[in-house]
Amino acid sequence: VPVDRLNEVLRRQLVEVDAHGTRKRVEAVVTAVLPAASGRGPRYLLAGYGDKLFVRMSSNGYLGLAMHPAVMAAEEQAVRSFGAGPAAVRFISGTYEPHVRLEHRLAEFHGREAAMIFGSAYAAMIGVLPALVSGDTAIVSDSLNHNCIINAARLAQPKRKEVYPHLDLAELDRVLGSLTDDIRRVLVVTDGVFSMRGDHAPLDALVALLGAHDQRFAENTVLIVDDSHGVGAIGTGGRGTEEVTGGQADVLVATLGKALGVNGGYVVGSQTLVDHLRETAPTYIYSNPITPAEAAAALAALELLVSDAGAALLARLRANTTRFRDGITRLGYETIPGVHPVVPVLVRDTTQTHELVAHLLAHGVLATGLSYPVVPRGDEEIRFQLSADQTAADIDEVLEALSSYRTTS
Ligand SMILES: Cc1ncc(COP(=O)(O)O)c(C=O)c1O
Repeated sequence: VPVDRLNEVLRRQLVEVDAHGTRKRVEAVVTAVLPAASGRGPRYLLAGYGDKLFVRMSSNGYLGLAMHPAVMAAEEQAVRSFGAGPAAVRFISGTYEPHVRLEHRLAEFHGREAAMIFGSAYAAMIGVLPALVSGDTAIVSDSLNHNCIINAARLAQPKRKEVYPHLDLAELDRVLGSLTDDIRRVLVVTDGVFSMRGDHAPLDALVALLGAHDQRFAENTVLIVDDSHGVGAIGTGGRGTEEVTGGQADVLVATLGKALGVNGGYVVGSQTLVDHLRETAPTYIYSNPITPAEAAAALAALELLVSDAGAALLARLRANTTRFRDGITRLGYETIPGVHPVVPVLVRDTTQTHELVAHLLAHGVLATGLSYPVVPRGDEEIRFQLSADQTAADIDEVLEALSSYRTTS
């Protein structure tokens, strides 16, 4: 039966999306990656742009590990040993040695008792948060939290759900104080690094604040942090927001698909927490894990991160970030202060954001324009993301494109 009436409704909704200027479905297709050469970092070729080369300022690969020879070799070797995919969920027969080794190493890296891998960080949060919600739980969430937290909180259906203004700890204090005695368990959930802005949650202050309220609740105030953009990007040892702030989450979710350059997500915490999640988190129990080869590649990436080579990559990333931040400030662009390789240029207008993205594209620069509803109205921005595989010449090329927009617009 043709679903023509449904299609008509869907088509009208797509027209509305286009009219709002928030279309996402027209995606740039990368057709080739040219490795770093002669003082320049990797360059990208895109379908429809012929042999034009692009410098990519829109990648979460903060350390450039996706193209690292040791990471690619580990993946290749594991494909030959274990095949292309697991062909089962973990508890049936889908647990391979690289999964287990990676989990041990992740727990060690984060100084926790245990770790557990998911198909993605999104799947991790969707698995973890509802599994920790009982009939008398409150979820308290930062207003700019990632979509995975928002949807996980919806799915969890807690007894109470509160949202506090972005990083407003005074308001969070007030919300925690307002929770009534029927609430036994409180889950405070926040991004570590906020990916649209590059700022981060003050985990040390959050730990202290939750501690001050903890005695009131029979099953604790629990801090859950998603530091997908922080791990491997900030902190001298690449341990993310926890390392920068000195505060530790009770439950830490992160990804293998950004700084670590591979794919997949994970949670670290106590052994009891992880044992419980292996029994309760549906996105773990009923969904295939990442491939054994991805696990082997992520393990190689993690080994790199903790080595001298990793320290050098982190230092290079910091230097690149500083060079870019100094450059845009010199050019008079507005940004949000921070230490993270996400550097927003605040344009504060949807049309101008589109214009600047088009100008950058014409000058061989890939950057992400963000407008409402991805960011609040008035916070329209171009998000630039630095990487350790970029060179000073690459960054100067991007700054040159930004400078020529200033003089032509
Ligand atoms: C805070 C946060 N969580 C989760 C994700 C998704 O990560 P993954 O691709 O591993 O699902 C992102 C990425 O955008 C993120 O910023």
